[in-house]
Amino acid sequence: MHKRNSLFYIVALACLFMISVGACRNGTPKTIVPGIVWYDTDGNPINAHGGGIMYHDGVYYWYGEYKGDSTYYRDDICVGWRAEAGGVSCYSSTDLVSWKFEGVVLPPDTQDAQSDLHPSQIIERPKVIYNDKTKKFVMWVHIDSPNYEKAHTGVAVGDSPTGRFTYLGSFKPNGGDSRDQTVFKDDDGRAYHIHSSEWNKTLYIGLLNDDYTQHTGIYTRNFIEQYREAPAVFKHDGKYYLISSGCTGWDPNTAQCAVADSMLGEWKVIGNPCIGKDAEKTYYAQSTFVLPVGGKDGQIVAMFDRWNKTDLDDSRYVWLPLTFVDGKPVIEWKDQWNLEE
Ligand code: GAL
Repeated sequence: MHKRNSLFYIVALACLFMISVGACRNGTPKTIVPGIVWYDTDGNPINAHGGGIMYHDGVYYWYGEYKGDSTYYRDDICVGWRAEAGGVSCYSSTDLVSWKFEGVVLPPDTQDAQSDLHPSQIIERPKVIYNDKTKKFVMWVHIDSPNYEKAHTGVAVGDSPTGRFTYLGSFKPNGGDSRDQTVFKDDDGRAYHIHSSEWNKTLYIGLLNDDYTQHTGIYTRNFIEQYREAPAVFKHDGKYYLISSGCTGWDPNTAQCAVADSMLGEWKVIGNPCIGKDAEKTYYAQSTFVLPVGGKDGQIVAMFDRWNKTDLDDSRYVWLPLTFVDGKPVIEWKDQWNLEE
């Protein structure tokens, strides 16, 4: 090959590599490329599905489902496709682009087939918040039996964001079932557990106790009989926003946003925040978390999972900027985009 040609190929390959890992160096843009495989700093695909991010002391910690690498089909469950539950993984980053694998911080229990954390069970949608009073990191996670009939929420606590977390057990919050879920910590230190209940028909929002490990018994029923899943909550300009998906298993559907003056207040549906091509299918993805960058009410990242139901651990991450237009949240597809400095 001609010398100039080979130089061209080397440069092109290097650029491709930089883009494909969403790489950045100081001074270069922090580029996010939704939908391609994202690699951690060891070069392994990031395995943190249905996840959420906690920003703590200048570091982002991304917690997600660590999915086993062989997907199988069960015809005895309505959702069909499953992968072994590999516990909850954690990745850390200071720029939201370069992610270091911190390990599986809530490991599966491979010994006890009766354990909530056995790989045959469901361990989904983990979220972690920090408790300023107890100085503990508290994880809430959807725990279920393989047929999704148990419908519990599980709680684990850790002394460090990178674990290991101690599992406290699982239960039905306020007596109701709990499947897709998230937690939200407000500026006043109160925290809430938001979960699909009543066979996913109705979304419950429950106030947590002071140490965030239990419910207080104060809760509201929302979007009654509207089948909302995959809740993601954020606060902007003093108002609360809740993005959720419809209820079609691993298959995509239309997202919906609602707004409220308080977490336990009345939620008003304001429509699909996604616009443009494939907005009705949420760009073939499903909501999982909304992240205010740097813990501030400024730049906002909307996080989605693009499930690959026949190869679940190869499900991809779709992160897009969320902006406000005429007072409403708007999300638009981008092939790639740069985080602000
Ligand atoms: C979805 C849910 C996912 C997973 C999946 C199983 O509706 O959002 O977290 O539980 O169903 O089919």
